[in-house]
Amino acid sequence: MTLTREEAWKKVALHPDPTLTELFAEDMERVDKLATRLELRLDDAPAGILFDWSKTHLTDDLLTDFEKLAQAAKFDEMRDALFAGEVVNPTEGRAAEHSALRGVGKDSSVEEAEALRERMRLLTNAMHEGAFGEIRHLIHVGIGGSALGPALAVDALARDLPLVDVHVVSNIDGVALEEAFEACDPATTFIAVASKTFTTTETMVNAQSALKWLVDNGVSDATGRVIALTAAPEKAVEWGIDETRILPFAESVGGRYSLWSSIGFPIAIAVGWDDFQAMLDGAAAVDRHFRDNSGRENLPLRAAFADLYYSRLRGSQTRAVFAYDERLRLMPDYLQQLEMESNGKSVTVDGSPSGPTAPITWGGVGTDAQHAVFQLLHQGTHLVPVDFIASIEAGDTLDSAHHTILLMNCFAQGAALMAGKTSDDPHRSYPGDRPSATILVDDLDAATFGALVAFYEHRTFANAVLLDINPFDQFGVELGKEIAKKIEKGGERFDASTEALLKAAGVG
Ligand code: F6P
Repeated sequence: MTLTREEAWKKVALHPDPTLTELFAEDMERVDKLATRLELRLDDAPAGILFDWSKTHLTDDLLTDFEKLAQAAKFDEMRDALFAGEVVNPTEGRAAEHSALRGVGKDSSVEEAEALRERMRLLTNAMHEGAFGEIRHLIHVGIGGSALGPALAVDALARDLPLVDVHVVSNIDGVALEEAFEACDPATTFIAVASKTFTTTETMVNAQSALKWLVDNGVSDATGRVIALTAAPEKAVEWGIDETRILPFAESVGGRYSLWSSIGFPIAIAVGWDDFQAMLDGAAAVDRHFRDNSGRENLPLRAAFADLYYSRLRGSQTRAVFAYDERLRLMPDYLQQLEMESNGKSVTVDGSPSGPTAPITWGGVGTDAQHAVFQLLHQGTHLVPVDFIASIEAGDTLDSAHHTILLMNCFAQGAALMAGKTSDDPHRSYPGDRPSATILVDDLDAATFGALVAFYEHRTFANAVLLDINPFDQFGVELGKEIAKKIEKGGERFDASTEALLKAAGVG
């Protein structure tokens, strides 16, 4: 019998709350059931990721009831609609076809993405081969989804000797752009202007200033050094960029899902085409897993079950992500946009109040965070579910002590959060029973990186479907932009506090 969404939630909410320690004692197979390895490649270079959700409060029975909730939410149908390129963003009447960029989706969209990717490959290779003269630096200007993915990927994958030195600049604060200018030689620098709409104020102002910097530094044909990455190619032409240097992508690719499109150009320029393609292939392996599995076997959906258990039933208002890998230090920033811009909503698809939706995503890198914020995780009053991310293979070439200590610390934190510690001294007691999930990558390379990001994308979508919200619009960011434009235009009065601030700063 299929339950309604409300009935399914009621069943989920009725479960008792045994402690994690009790759950491990009750079920000897808990690790086998809840720590699942996803193989990305089965060829002679196997690569995989272990998704260990055993230190969460998920149980067989709870999973069964969450599966009923997924059925009530028509999860399989919604997921199939996503891959079929149907409208899954009803408020904007759009599909969300980021997986087509990786080769998994509606045939015509996959073909279109392949053609655009080929264009990007040719330009990337031509630049590497010197067709545009010597290129040592790329200043990539973009913001939000047009910057966070490229910044994360370049930082993670292009650490040793990038083919081209990439600087991602997003902030309108000129300090950010000046920092990039300091590090680049104008004679060998190209500018990438990344904007889906090609209208975003920060990006367009930064692009103008970057162009001016080239001109002021004696670069002839400065606009010939600018490349546009956009879903609005006509606007890039208007801006003065030659069509041959415009890399378009489809309107159906959302900004925060766009690193797989031409927005990922700085990644390809930094790491080379083969690694960019490997990143897409790694993500495609997760797409196929997500498309072809149901219920608890579907790892992003399983993770979403745990997410909702904590946010809806245990009142967790935040979730923390700690990468025990310096190369992933930008992961929390990236996930903040992915998860909070997608699921930071307060109404369901039909416009009624939704109840609690996305928790606040935050985090940092291990082991640094242990010496800064972990006190609260262990002894504070908030219940904060944690994701740990680590790679078995080291990212460094120093002796193995560094990496071994790093991994030991990562696993120790998960164990400590769960076990807690009793003491006669309340100041020295740890309550324990604090949940964590561990994502353990065999080796962080382009493919496993792509897979990791795709896992988080699908987990975000799965959460949205179970919550009955639209993850693909972001109207909440518009009002601030409108007010900023009104201030710029002048002639309008605002509240007394804002007026006083404008006066104090002498702006507006
Ligand atoms: O401010 C929100 C937003 O629309 C993001 O969703 C998007 O990634 C970012 O702005 C940048 O937009 P664009 O790529 O059009 O410049």
